[in-house]
This record gives sequence, structure tokens and C-alpha cells, in this order.
Amino acid sequence: PVATDRKGSHGRLVVVSNRVPVPTSSAEPLAGGLAIALQAALKTRGGVWFGWSGKVSQDPDPALQVRTFGSISYAVSDLSRRDIDEYYHGFANRALWPICHYRLDLANLSARDASGYFRVNEQFARRLAKMLRPDDIVWVHDYHFIPIASCLRRLGCANRMGFFLHIPWPGPDIAAALPEYDRILRSLAAYDVLGFQTPVDAENFRDCLVHAKAGHIVDGGCCEAYGRRFQVDAFPISIDAEAFAQEARVAERNIVVKRMRASLEGREMIIGVDRLDYSKGVKQRIAAFSAFLERSPQAARGRVTLLQITPKSRSEVPEYAKIQREVAEQVGHVNGKLGDVDWTPVRYINKVMSQSALAGLYRVARVGLVTPLRDGMNLVAKEYVAAQSPENPGVLILSQFAGAAQELEQALIVNPYDVEATADAIARAFAMPLKERKERWSAMMETLRCNSVEAWTNRFLQVLSGDADLQEL
Ligand code: G6P
Repeated sequence: PVATDRKGSHGRLVVVSNRVPVPTSSAEPLAGGLAIALQAALKTRGGVWFGWSGKVSQDPDPALQVRTFGSISYAVSDLSRRDIDEYYHGFANRALWPICHYRLDLANLSARDASGYFRVNEQFARRLAKMLRPDDIVWVHDYHFIPIASCLRRLGCANRMGFFLHIPWPGPDIAAALPEYDRILRSLAAYDVLGFQTPVDAENFRDCLVHAKAGHIVDGGCCEAYGRRFQVDAFPISIDAEAFAQEARVAERNIVVKRMRASLEGREMIIGVDRLDYSKGVKQRIAAFSAFLERSPQAARGRVTLLQITPKSRSEVPEYAKIQREVAEQVGHVNGKLGDVDWTPVRYINKVMSQSALAGLYRVARVGLVTPLRDGMNLVAKEYVAAQSPENPGVLILSQFAGAAQELEQALIVNPYDVEATADAIARAFAMPLKERKERWSAMMETLRCNSVEAWTNRFLQVLSGDADLQEL
């Protein structure tokens, strides 16, 4: 029999994510549009944000730590070394992450990691089940916690549960390479609402169900599989464009921005901002910038600088350690070959920058280079657009393989694997007349105004609460 869960409930909201932005005081301002939007939703309904503390514990069974600020409780627990290795470094970041980013060549398939992943999810679910009230709605974020709903169902929880995947979901020919593929699909079917970044990701997931003969599509947004009926759709995530634009205006006075501007001494700047991850296409981007410089020595050499801000990420995972070495070597090579006594072509920074500094730097940059090889959405692309001055906006160069490209059609869209084409796009961006820059920017800004992160949160929660069907929205 096909079971669906109660609709129309308006209990608390329970957000589940691997990273939990636990504030240290109720007055602490939060960084990041998503955290702010989720916090706002939690505040309105009252609720719990549940997940990993980000810390390692010596204790094999670490206690849940709960801190409450007003109507929001943050409930986190540490993980043992073994759990972190198998669940986070292992299955989440060496199997799910590369495969969902179409990198079968970088996937490490380990039965031990897979079983650690399901074991840790089970532990989290047991803890969460003790806190859940019958009318709470549960919203799980991202690939670390796919099995939470199925674990909770086994423990008897009939709550409405939704899942949003922040990263891409590939078609069956790639997704089927996941260890425990059938168990992953079955786990996803335990939710009531499955949200993906783009219509293509949602379609890929439906294809996976059909291809695995696990179920069928009832109509546009509704699927039946593994004895359950659930909704599957795209919910493209966004930013608060007005707030970000305001931040960028104010950030002209930010000290980091002032220092950067002064150090440019009238040169033009291109900006790239990414976690140091092989999915971001940083190597291809630096190669494209180098090709652009080599082919236009008069126009560009000595006059353009690429500021690449790339905080290190997941360094304990071997594939990440490798890309860190490779990018560092490549930057050294390009700077050694093309640089001069008074000019460094690529300024490569592994530091984390504040949101204010980033907003101001985006505004200074004539070109935003956002060229991932594959990305669920990519909010840097959206932030770069929001940060521009309406009188003299810069140009966004955007990978066709970022989810954002399906919305920001007026960017210069490139194939990031094609180094020469990306170099052409950089040249085109610098040559673009002000009128065209303004037209492209206004259209993109309008798109961002129409889909704010707040609207995104509300739409997902409306569907999850059962207040609205997808077709109505
Ligand atoms: C991506 C994922 C997030 C993750 C973030 C940082 O954006 O979608 O779930 O939190 O990367 O990665 P980390 O492994 O440091 O949490």
C-alpha cells in the first residue's frame, strides 16, 4: 500500500544538516544567506537545528549538546574519529560528492565507509527521534544525511519530512555507480518532499527511479516508489540580493577592499572565489587566464590581475590534498612565467574572507569568473551579480555546468573545460560596452529579485507542510 503522511501540520520546524551554525550568543550576527533564511524560518515556527558539532570526540558515545536562544534550540553532537573518517571523509566526501559531481574517476568505493555512513545516520536519527514531537516538520539538508528519514520512519516517526540536495544529482548511468545505490534511492523515498537545485537534477532523479524499476512518475511533481508517494521538484536556491547589494555598497569602506583597491594601482581585477575543491575548475580557470594573458600581451599583461580566493577544504581527503598541491604549483608556474617585478598575474589566497570583504571585492572586480566543472547552484555567481554597481556593472563569466547558468542566462556562459573559449570570454568581457554590461546585469538582477532565499525557504516549507501542492505554486 502507498502510505503518505499527514498534511497541513504546523508544528515546529526541525532543520537537520551536517554543519550547524551554533551562535555563541543571541546577539551574534550570522554570516551566509542560507543560514539567515533558515534561522528566520526557525524563529517564526520555533524549532530545532540538529547536526554534527564539527568536533572530534574521544568518547565513543558523545552526548548531545543543546543550546537554546529564544525559540530556537541548537542540538549538536561530536563524532568519534572513526565515525568522521567513514561517514564524512569517507562515504560523504569520497563517494557521494565525486559521483554526484560526475567524477567517477575520483570516487573511492569502500564498503566500510558505506556502512559507517549508514551507522552514523542511524545514531543521529535515534537522538533526533527522542526530541521529535508528532506535529514537527523535518527538513534535512544535503548529502550527509540522506538516510535520516528512513531511519526515523523505522523508529515510528510519521512526521512530514523533506530533503533538499544542495549538490547536483546525476542521471542513472552515473548515479548507479554509488555504493549501496538501491539503499540510497530507497532512503530518499522515505521523504515526503525531495528538492533539487534545478529541473535537470529533479529529472535525473526521476529517471533513476524509473531506470532502477523502483517506481513510477504519477504526474509532474509526484512519484511513487518503494511503497511510498512523494513529491520531487526543483527548488533553485538563491540569495537575498538586496541585502547583498547593500553590503557591497557599504563594503567600499571595508579595509580589505581599500587595501586591495590601492594595491591594484589602476589595474583591472578579475575575481574567483571558491572552496579549494576539484569540482570548482580552478585549474582550468587559471589556465584560461594565462592563455588570455599570453595571447593579448599589449592589452592585458601587467594591466590585469586575477584575485583567486580559495580557502582550503576537506584537506584530509586525499583527492583534496592533491588538488591543493596542483593549484599551488600551477599558480607558481604562471606567476613565474608571466609576472614581472611590479606585477603578479595571479594573487592566490587560501584565507577565509568575511562576507563584507567579499561583497566589496566583487564590486571592485571588472569580471567575475565562476567556472565550476559541475556545481549544484553556485551562489558566488549570484553574489557577484548582486554586488555590482548599477552605473558600471562588471561581467559574469559562468560555467554552463553550474546550476546558476539555468537562471543567469545573460552571463557569458562558457564550457569550463574549453580553456581557449574561456580565454575568449575574458577578452570579450573586457571589451564589452557599458550599455551591454548594463543590459545583461539588469536582467540578471531582476531574476535574483524574483527568487530570494526567503522565497525559496517559504516555498519549500509550504510544500513540505502540505499547505500547497507544487502545481499551485
Ligand atoms: C558544499 C556542501 C555543503 C557543505 C559545504 C562546505 O556547499 O553542499 O553541505 O557544508 O560544501 O563543505 P564542508 O565539507 O566543509 O562542510
